[in-house]
Amino acid sequence: MAAGKGTRLKSKHPKVLHEVGGKPVLAHVIEAAAKVVPLRNIRAIIGHEAELVRRAVADSGIQFVLQAEQKGTGHALMVARDALKDFDCILVLSGDAPLITAPTIEKLQEFHVSRKAAMTLLTAVLERPFGYGRVIRKSAKSAEVRAIVEQKALSGAQQEIREINAGFYAFNAKTLFKYIDRLSTNNPHAEFYLTDMATILGKAKERVVAVAADDPYEVLGGNTRAELMDIDQRIRRSKCAQLMSDGVSIFYPETCVIDSDVTIGTDTVIEPFVQIRGKTSIGSDCRIRSYSIIQNSEIGNGVLIRPGCILDEALVADGALLGPYSHLRPGSEIGKGAHVGNFVETKKIRLGKGSKANHLTYLGDAEIGAGVNIGAGTITCNYDGVNKHKTIIEDNVFIGSDSTLVAPVSVRRGAYVGAASCITDDVPEDSLAIGRGRQIVKEGWVKAKREAQKGSGQKNK
Ligand code: UD1
Ligand code: CA
Repeated sequence: MAAGKGTRLKSKHPKVLHEVGGKPVLAHVIEAAAKVVPLRNIRAIIGHEAELVRRAVADSGIQFVLQAEQKGTGHALMVARDALKDFDCILVLSGDAPLITAPTIEKLQEFHVSRKAAMTLLTAVLERPFGYGRVIRKSAKSAEVRAIVEQKALSGAQQEIREINAGFYAFNAKTLFKYIDRLSTNNPHAEFYLTDMATILGKAKERVVAVAADDPYEVLGGNTRAELMDIDQRIRRSKCAQLMSDGVSIFYPETCVIDSDVTIGTDTVIEPFVQIRGKTSIGSDCRIRSYSIIQNSEIGNGVLIRPGCILDEALVADGALLGPYSHLRPGSEIGKGAHVGNFVETKKIRLGKGSKANHLTYLGDAEIGAGVNIGAGTITCNYDGVNKHKTIIEDNVFIGSDSTLVAPVSVRRGAYVGAASCITDDVPEDSLAIGRGRQIVKEGWVKAKREAQKGSGQKNK
């Protein structure tokens, strides 16, 4: 169920698209579900901002059911009736509870099957149950449930109940749809509550049972910003714990932001205040120094990233060295053992094996071979105001400092470009190109000027 608006977030974005652990809340729930049932059997019920939600999780490969008007969790299932009619057992998952795990969903399913129940709900015992529906069992020890009572409808005594309805259910499909039309909107929100099925099925002499989650935190819902941030922290803490147990060193993990889908190899060291986002993979024996932000990038083994680097959709091969303060924009491919240094910006380039661009440089739309040295302050002029053009720099070229390469232009194998050159024409193999004004020296010029000034100063006295 992912059709709700999420009023309590006070957001223009749908609740299930708010991010925790670096991806939408709903994506986490789908991921857990996909470990339990085949993708082709998963439906997301969407409604509020349906197109946005659909697009955000489209690459998961699941199908969608549209709940155009959102009249409650019970209504969501009414709308999905046709889409679900061929299934025997339906697992209903709240799209806003991203900490849920596959083993817990399996536990719910197995309990449901073993008790031959019509409805099974997952519960949890919380310290602070406020806001959740509470579970009224037939007796303290019984698995059977009499009712689920929403927060607003709780009597004084019921407010003491700490066992909450987690918002995850298993249903016998036939029974659910036989009785679902008995739901009414006779409640404070004037919605069809799926939770009312417990009472309805009970009255119809169908079995309704509850099973508690082993870890109560797995069922936390992100209804408010504070709850979402709490969930985000839990995901990140457990991500860091997982990485550390897999052999990654993370200094002050509470200062690092590492997204759920990130992978990192053994003996890599992450320093404080690093962010590793999206689908980034980092190899073994790397060191990521403080204040670097790496997003959707692939980093090989033995790479050193010095402080303050920003990488976005970059590919960095083994043994490369970046930073401090390098900015690798999308499409940057840094070869084995290559160096990219201080205040160097790259975009859509290939920098070959062992090549170096160590200082104050912009390299965009360029193919750069192996063993190339790019001097400080070099700029590829790739944009003519309308189109982008390519610069080609072949193996073992030496570009002197402060050169501008006006693309499209090629510097062939082994050539040299003199410092401060403006290169507008191709440079042939093994040749030297110099494109700058000639230096003029006027000997004694300063001395003469000084003396002339002295003379006129005396006159003025
Ligand atoms: C629901 C339960 C409550 C339980 C809590 C657990 C009901 C009436 N109450 O309350 O007992 O303790 O979950 O988190 O079900 N949704 C739709 N269509 C709708 C309305 C909601 O798809 O018309 C989706 C929402 O996007 C959300 C999920 O259903 O993902 C739960 O809805 P929400 O409004 O968050 O229910 P709660 O108030 O949290
Ligand atoms: Ca909720």
